[in-house]
Amino acid sequence: MSRASTVLITGCSSGFGLETARHFLDKGWRVVATMRQPREDLLPRSEALRVLPLDVTDAGSIGQCLRDAGPIDALVNNAGVGLLAPLEAVDMVNARALYETNVLGTIAMTQAVLPQMRERRSGVVVNVTSSVTLKSLPLLSVYTGSKAAVNAFTESLALELAPFNVRARLVLPGRSPSTSFGDNARKLMSPDVPEAYVAFRDQVFAAVRDLSTPVTVAQDVAEAVWRAVTDPQAPMRIPAGADAVALSAALADA
Ligand SMILES: NC(=O)c1ccc[n+]([C@@H]2O[C@H](COP(=O)([O-])OP(=O)(O)OC[C@H]3O[C@@H](n4cnc5c(N)ncnc54)[C@H](OP(=O)(O)O)[C@@H]3O)[C@@H](O)[C@H]2O)c1
Repeated sequence: MSRASTVLITGCSSGFGLETARHFLDKGWRVVATMRQPREDLLPRSEALRVLPLDVTDAGSIGQCLRDAGPIDALVNNAGVGLLAPLEAVDMVNARALYETNVLGTIAMTQAVLPQMRERRSGVVVNVTSSVTLKSLPLLSVYTGSKAAVNAFTESLALELAPFNVRARLVLPGRSPSTSFGDNARKLMSPDVPEAYVAFRDQVFAAVRDLSTPVTVAQDVAEAVWRAVTDPQAPMRIPAGADAVALSAALADA
């Protein structure tokens, strides 16, 4: 008898990760929803759901989580942090912390899950990056660099895993002011910005919060991740959200 498929998702305490966990539960998958501080009340009670602690920057936490999780058919590396600031105002401690989560956390989780997928000759790794890697925006140099690194990592990895029938895919969400992303980003941002940048920074902040142009909602990302996991013909890069889909189409037409 074959077991139900299991997805492990990182960063399920809010935003895209939480909605993606809900989506896979609705579709009948077994879900391992991971969070730094586990909360049982965020998702519907279900025998198909396990909530496990996981900090993707901590090797011990990764090892324990995977021992507890059992076989994983799909890994979704969603956990991530943002940083919207002129480079001159970025503390290198915070830049390193961002890369630890966004880049090295993704690499470490993927490396830890791969042996079981290779041995079973089946599995999917989906890495959530961003549409800012398609068209650059200001004040996002450190963040964009981290997500572009994950794009390149994933595209190379996909080639090395193809002989084992293990797929790697990218989901590129657009701007989504409704998640906790902005609040979490502020934890890495210094209020002290050189005066020369202040007016421009304030303009960019207003544009980021603007709801009069198309944005991405968490359901868009959940559906894109679902497609990446379940459709073997899905493209390597899947834009998620009206803004990201339009940008991707415009770049393809150019
Ligand atoms: N919102 C946007 O505009 C946007 C656009 C494009 C791409 N993205 C990407 O989409 C992904 C999800 O973002 P979101 O908008 O849903 O933001 P969010 O609501 O802030 O969710 C981010 C999640 O990552 C978790 N996380 C952070 N550091 C972690 C760590 N070291 N270990 C484990 N989990 C950690 C957070 O958990 P805690 O509660 O423990 O902090 C939270 O659950 C991120 O990779 C982000 O870069 C976001």
